[in-house]
Amino acid sequence: MPDLENPFQETLLSRHRAEPCTVVIFGATGDLTNRKLIPAFYNIAACGDLPPQFKVVGFARRDKSDEVFRSELEAGNRKNSRQGHSDELWESFSRCIHYHRSEFEDPAGYVNLKLLLDKFDHERGTPANRLFYLASAPEAFKSILEMLRATGLNEGVGGKWARVVCEKPFGKDLASARALNEVVNATFHESDTYRIDHYLGKETAQNIMVLRFANALFEPNWNSRYIDHIQITCAENLGMEGGRGGYYDTAGALRDMVQNHLFQLLSLVAMEPPTDLSADSVRDEKVKVIRALRPLVGPEAVGQNVIRAQYTAGSVDGAPRVGYRQEDRVNPESKTEAYVALRLFIDTWRWQGVPFYIRVGKQLPKKATEISIHFKKPPQVPFATSKLLKNSENTLVIRIQPDEGIALRILCKQPGQAMRMQQVKLDFRYSSSFGKASPEAYERLLLDAMAGDATLFARRDEVENAWKFIDEIEHAWHQAATPPPMCEYPAGSWGPKEADDLLGQDGREWRLL
Ligand SMILES: NC(=O)c1ccc[n+]([C@@H]2O[C@H](COP(=O)([O-])OP(=O)(O)OC[C@H]3O[C@@H](n4cnc5c(N)ncnc54)[C@H](OP(=O)(O)O)[C@@H]3O)[C@@H](O)[C@H]2O)c1
Repeated sequence: MPDLENPFQETLLSRHRAEPCTVVIFGATGDLTNRKLIPAFYNIAACGDLPPQFKVVGFARRDKSDEVFRSELEAGNRKNSRQGHSDELWESFSRCIHYHRSEFEDPAGYVNLKLLLDKFDHERGTPANRLFYLASAPEAFKSILEMLRATGLNEGVGGKWARVVCEKPFGKDLASARALNEVVNATFHESDTYRIDHYLGKETAQNIMVLRFANALFEPNWNSRYIDHIQITCAENLGMEGGRGGYYDTAGALRDMVQNHLFQLLSLVAMEPPTDLSADSVRDEKVKVIRALRPLVGPEAVGQNVIRAQYTAGSVDGAPRVGYRQEDRVNPESKTEAYVALRLFIDTWRWQGVPFYIRVGKQLPKKATEISIHFKKPPQVPFATSKLLKNSENTLVIRIQPDEGIALRILCKQPGQAMRMQQVKLDFRYSSSFGKASPEAYERLLLDAMAGDATLFARRDEVENAWKFIDEIEHAWHQAATPPPMCEYPAGSWGPKEADDLLGQDGREWRLL
């Protein structure tokens, strides 16, 4: 029986009812479609959640038949499907997949696309909703959107909707993000625009709101009176494998990860409770957090609060790794950071004086993304051994990936005569508590986009405010007469010494992962 007094439960039960629609993927022969999008649709089908009369049309420039396209996607699904691959299910699912060959810039390709979609509508006997998924390089977005507008495909037919999903990266600075937003919003209304941030599709990211606002235990303590500081870590144990260096070297850790994924996690942790769970109520609160970030302006402020670094040669898990500048497709004189650590403050009543330390980097010892909330120590401990152990504060750890879960570290008495304390961990793991793997982020996000729920997608003002903050740091690094230094760390270590000093100056340490 749903608990009608609990808005979270009520809303969650009513989500994910996707309406019948046709999805057009621009850039459908690419890696994203093969590894993520089609396996996500397949798993949605495996869960019985695919809407009736669903179709997906792949749009790309190479010539191929529906059959060839399907067999390439089948090979990808065998490798990447979360719930494995069933020949029987694939046989029925793949019948909804079609291929449409065209250059993004060719008007005739869009006229033919419209004819194809009309033909599907005719076969169905009713017009369908349309979801246009921009899975191409961002430079192609403008052409695609202008062509959609020119052919009228951006407008729903017969009372049906037309929406657009934009992949990351959404701009490379404030100016480019604004220019892109102008084009997007000239073609689709903001409420029909879904900017993907796949971190928001992860179960644990969504659980941050439930943890905070559906449990009476945490929220009264979730402020500067009880919280000493908060850390957000996103560690990668890989470098520039698979030709990734070409893109990464033009972006860097700050633009590639902090502006989007880590700021989204920061917003969820720091936001005020929304009045309801509608997309705009949640996003109104999230954007207030980004707007309240204390700006870091000029090389001095940036140098004091932001550490950038590149890895040098080293080893990860015993395997030798080259330095960042020696990586494939990376400029040997690159000034792009593969690691960044930041000390941020949110100037609101709730968070006055509480530092948020964020770090993200490549070639670190393990792959892990987590948020840790470090509570203040009690003012006095009335035991004989009254000196508390080092790092013994209560810590709430939200593990985003892998091994999604939540752990609370508390102090307990060790068994025996003496009053000795020891830190113990109360641990919740998604996999063992719910007995199955969480859905992939793309499954949830595609379902939400089809169901018209934009809560887990970035809104225009969120993206632009995040870029505004990031631009100041990039400016200090690349335009200042005396920019803050580029630090170094050996591959396989936990980052540069300077990032340890950033917390050391405040009498704190990075949490050991
Ligand atoms: N791959 C990932 O895991 C991942 C993760 C997050 C975000 N993204 C983002 O998703 C987007 C796509 O990434 P991807 O890795 O799938 O890219 P990709 O492998 O390079 O694929 C690019 C696609 O665009 C098509 N294309 C390029 N130029 C075209 C043109 N002029 N006309 C028609 N089609 C054209 C290609 O078609 P042909 O094959 O026919 O040339 C191909 O289907 C990027 O914005 C990326 O940043 C990717």
